[in-house]
Amino acid sequence: MGKDDNDIIDKLPGVGPATAEKLRDAGYIDVMSIAVASPKELSDAAEIGETTGTKIILQARKQADIGEFETGRALLEKRAKVGRITTGSKLFDELMGGGFETQAIIELFGEYGSGKTQIAHQLCVIVQRPKEEGGLEGHAFYIDTENTFRPERIVQMSEAYDLDSDEVLKKIHVARAYNSSHQMLLVDKVKELSKDIPASLLVVDSLTAHFRAEYVGRGALADRQQKLNKHMHDLLRWGDLNNGVVCVTNQVSSKPDAFFGDPTRPIGGHIVGHTATFRVYLRKSKGPRRIARLIDSPHLPEGEAVFSIIDKGVRD
Ligand SMILES: Nc1ncnc2c1ncn2[C@@H]1O[C@H](COP(=O)(O)OP(=O)(O)O)[C@@H](O)[C@H]1O
Ligand SMILES: [Mg+2]
Repeated sequence: MGKDDNDIIDKLPGVGPATAEKLRDAGYIDVMSIAVASPKELSDAAEIGETTGTKIILQARKQADIGEFETGRALLEKRAKVGRITTGSKLFDELMGGGFETQAIIELFGEYGSGKTQIAHQLCVIVQRPKEEGGLEGHAFYIDTENTFRPERIVQMSEAYDLDSDEVLKKIHVARAYNSSHQMLLVDKVKELSKDIPASLLVVDSLTAHFRAEYVGRGALADRQQKLNKHMHDLLRWGDLNNGVVCVTNQVSSKPDAFFGDPTRPIGGHIVGHTATFRVYLRKSKGPRRIARLIDSPHLPEGEAVFSIIDKGVRD
């Protein structure tokens, strides 16, 4: 909970409830945004003196999680550990540079029925396979917000590889999240459990559904983005610490939406978009065919891959 407390600007020494309110209204939603502000900006925003502003900024800088510098060498060593989970489709794997990378968040976004949940199920099976067969020999955690996890589907997908489906199911740890706060707490729980469970995959399906339902209207937008931001960073940290793949889903609507404008824009907007390492836009094609489009990758070209979802799972 430490990080959460740190993000609450009300807890900064010198910031009373009225000042906090004014700061938030002016867009200072977390400690970091205050830490990088100038005294003049802050005093204008909250109608406080510049001396008080300076004091608040210094406090914020003490609390803000600024991070450490790492050498290029240390970063290269970390990159060398990156593993991949294959998808069952060669073309999809190629699009992703050989599969879904560890130490990264992969966001699958697309309309209802585009295959987000199916891919998530497929990863839960393949992650358990040996490295030579495209897996990481790890367990999977699955945070299910829409009640769409289906063990029967795992059985089907396991049998396609002649795996003992009972053994596969034992290594998938599923929790239902009842609201967005619960969803965030479950990530803490996953962190704790990961000390004993050697997991290499964490799925959040859907990342955004609860947030979308709970934070409605313009006034709630800043709060929602702040929470999503923290959630994404928690997820990324899990991926880093456990050398695991984080796969999150984000549904977009095909119908223009009065609140969110552009129909193909995933919710969470720039917050989710900037924190996700890879964004994959999925859309339906004929019958079982699906098209995956890679968007905004740090080191891979943009491109598309066609794959299918069949009874056995994801295939070319
Ligand atoms: N057992 C199965 N055999 C073949 N195709 C399936 C099976 N289960 C699901 N599908 C396909 O997956 C689609 C649902 O995809 P899903 O991943 O649930 O979509 P999303 O999560 O993006 O809303 C179905 O419409 C169907 O085409
Ligand atoms: Mg789904």
